[in-house]
Amino acid sequence: MHGPNLNLLGTREPGIYGTLTMEAINGNIEALVLELGGSVSFFHSNSEGALIDRIHSAVGEFDGIVINPAAYTHTSVAIRDAFSATGIPFVEVHLSNIHSREEFRHKSLTAPLAVGQICGFGADSYLLGVRALFNLTKNNTDPKKPLA
Ligand code: DQA
Repeated sequence: MHGPNLNLLGTREPGIYGTLTMEAINGNIEALVLELGGSVSFFHSNSEGALIDRIHSAVGEFDGIVINPAAYTHTSVAIRDAFSATGIPFVEVHLSNIHSREEFRHKSLTAPLAVGQICGFGADSYLLGVRALFNLTKNNTDPKKPLA
C-alpha cells in the first residue's frame, strides 16, 4: 500500500527516493511474492480516507499489509486508528531513512502498531518488508522471539 506522492516516484526527488517508479517497485514486489509462493495486490492513494477504507476492507482478504504511509506516517491519527481498530498485521516501510532527515520525519504515529519498521534501503525496503511479513504470516516466525 502506497501513500501520498509515491505515484510520483521516478521523478520525485530522485536523490532521496531513487529513480524507480511505483509501478517498477510493484513489479519487483510481485516477482518476489511469486518466488515466495504467495499472492499480492497493490493499492495507492493520495487520500487519507481511501487508504483507511482499504485497510478496513483488507481484513479477511489479506494476511497482512506492507505499507509506506508516506507523509501520513507523521500526521495521521486516523490511519493509526484504522490499524488499531482492525488489528491487521502490517510492516511499515520507507525508502529513505526517516530518522536521519528533518526532525518532523523522525516520529511515526503508525510504527508503534506495526510488526516492525524498515527504512533507508530505497526500493529494497519494500522487498525486505514483504519478506518479513511473509515469514511472519506464512512461516509463523515471531520476530520478537530471540533467534535460536
Ligand atoms: C517516505 C518518507 C516520508 O517522510 C515522506 O513524506 C514520503 C516518503 C519514504 O518512503 O522515505 O513521502 O515515506
